[in-house]
Amino acid sequence: MNTLNHIAIIMDGNGRWAKANHLPRTAGHYKGVEVLRNITKYANKLGIKCLTVYAFSTENWKRSMEEVSYIMSLPKIFFSSYIKELMENNVRIMIIGDRDRVPEETMKVIDDAIETTKNNTGLILNFAFNYGSRDEIVKAAKAYAIDYKDGKVDDLSEESFNNYLYTKDLPEVDLLIRTGSQMRLSNFLLYQLAYSEFVVVDTLWPDFTNEVLDECIEIYQNRKRNFGGRDETESN
Ligand code: FPP
Repeated sequence: MNTLNHIAIIMDGNGRWAKANHLPRTAGHYKGVEVLRNITKYANKLGIKCLTVYAFSTENWKRSMEEVSYIMSLPKIFFSSYIKELMENNVRIMIIGDRDRVPEETMKVIDDAIETTKNNTGLILNFAFNYGSRDEIVKAAKAYAIDYKDGKVDDLSEESFNNYLYTKDLPEVDLLIRTGSQMRLSNFLLYQLAYSEFVVVDTLWPDFTNEVLDECIEIYQNRKRNFGGRDETESN
């Protein structure tokens, strides 16, 4: 069995789901919130330690104002409906991304959820919100350079660089799932996914179920992970 502590998900396909159901794109995001609630509970039940979900990227600001402001209202929809349930399930909320451009009221809702759940010891539900990997890496490199110049760090190494990433306190990502069939990373966790296994499914995020998650995990469990080494039992 491969260890499975951390699953990251690119929750894609809300727009296509809405179109196929003759609904506005926002209805796809709304359905996506419900699915996230279910998958959070299920992943927690499976004993997964961390679930990082790509909820809003630094590039998503290019979408229509209507869609962007709807997505900014999703944390309120999610937490006002489910904070009690998240507490009952011992789920802890965390966030990665650039807080600066996020509207104050959205940030407050997220910060309240982080504070309320901070002592929970079950699954960490980590929202990548206004997150972009290149932005994260450049910011980390700048802070690292300044600390090095000021003598606050004396070794330039992968271990110490890791402390400058948003994900510094999280386990390594074991499995990346992308729904909606596209084969790309979309600026998500470029550094952190170095040795993760990728599973892309055709299922659109609003149709994602516990059974689809089970299938993804089964594919993952059938992969031979060697982290760049070699399986010595193979003959050539
Ligand atoms: C991508 O689908 C999805 C998003 C940009 C938003 C994802 C957000 C959620 C599922 C809810 C997050 C929940 C909270 C509480 C913040 P798309 O619109 O790009 O779909 P398409 O590729 O079919 O157009």
